[in-house]
Amino acid sequence: MVVVSAPNPPAVVRSASLVLLLAFLPIGSGLRGGAVPTGATAAAAACSRTAMPQCTSEFERFNPYLKEMIATAEQISRRGHGILATDESIPTAGKRLGTVGLPNTEESRRSFREVLYTTPGLSRYISGVIMFDETFRQTTGDGARFTTYLQDEGIVVGVKVDTGLQPLAGTDGETATQGLDGLAERCRAYYAEGARFTKWRAVFKIGPGMPSERAIFENAHTLGRFASICQEHGLVPIVEPEVTLGPGDYTIEHAAYESQRVLSHVFRALNTHDVVLEAMLLKPSMVLPGLDAIIAENDQEEVARLTVKTMMRSVPPAVPGIHFLSGGMGAEEATQNLQLLQRACPDSPWALSFSYGRALQDAVLKAWAGEPENVAVAQELMRELARVNAEAQLGVWNEEHPSPGAERVLLPKLSYSSERGPAPAGLFNW
Ligand code: 13P
Repeated sequence: MVVVSAPNPPAVVRSASLVLLLAFLPIGSGLRGGAVPTGATAAAAACSRTAMPQCTSEFERFNPYLKEMIATAEQISRRGHGILATDESIPTAGKRLGTVGLPNTEESRRSFREVLYTTPGLSRYISGVIMFDETFRQTTGDGARFTTYLQDEGIVVGVKVDTGLQPLAGTDGETATQGLDGLAERCRAYYAEGARFTKWRAVFKIGPGMPSERAIFENAHTLGRFASICQEHGLVPIVEPEVTLGPGDYTIEHAAYESQRVLSHVFRALNTHDVVLEAMLLKPSMVLPGLDAIIAENDQEEVARLTVKTMMRSVPPAVPGIHFLSGGMGAEEATQNLQLLQRACPDSPWALSFSYGRALQDAVLKAWAGEPENVAVAQELMRELARVNAEAQLGVWNEEHPSPGAERVLLPKLSYSSERGPAPAGLFNW
């Protein structure tokens, strides 16, 4: 058995967790001292994610947050809901704001996020919002913290905790994601201030010799470390291995092959770090051919078929939700593909859902463009985009898209760590 590197919790936490653990065990469990479950009861408990699992590692046995994290992951992944990703770093947010002529000031970033978060009825479709550290501390114009505002609406708040990409030496422009230093302290602070999940993005490119073994090992390892540190501090990790949509004429089958290679290493690393699969979420990319590939008529069905196949081959059913990023797909394409995934796998063991940034935000940003008189129209669009994606998650979307025919959005996502200026004053010395 893998020995856990986490320090033993103090005796008081140990005994509290034992009480908690006993409370989780099904009434009939032999471990509670009651009757040993028989036949159907035992079988049903074994294949339920929410009936508390028998803890198989020290890490989960003594984790006082286990039950809460499992419930949070299930809540975020509940059917007919998805995640709104608004965790762009400052340079990336600036690029996006620049497309409608807005300056990259703290106030522009805050105002746009206020438009998104205060959309009436958002929580009917959105179960979680991912924030950037700066946004996590910001408030609405009325002075309510965004975190409190969203929680009051029933939306779970999370934070991106990686600090961006750095070149990985010895590779042809591949990257390693930074941010493990001080992560435990940051998680403690985020939890105390109301965050209940985190996100970490690793990027893999497809190209000659890529993704390399080196990039896969490095990034799988840091994803495993990130996830276990977060779970140790009560935060559900969203593990994001993005096989990025890029130039090249590689086929969709090749993209599926490389995605499976990446995901299999990532789950190996998650297991190495005893990450509790029921208490995490996966945020991968859909399987897409290279941007220069010749595309067949039935391309989107192929995307759904190979995406599902890749997930079936790589992701254990214990994981409650797979929340795809939009990765540059147009807004309509992202919704169509999400719906096709449900059709391709109606009985999937995990929720096949969304955690979209660009596909949910781009049209809203254009509609708003920084003008107060446009807020109502922009929020109407935000709600409609959330609604059609929530319906696509259920496989029941059947009307015109609110942002029809939207082009792919291939503005680069910049690396915070390589592009940032001086470290932001404040809590963490990034
Ligand atoms: P996109 O949906 O724009 O790809 O962004 C989601 C995200 O959080 C990527 O890190």
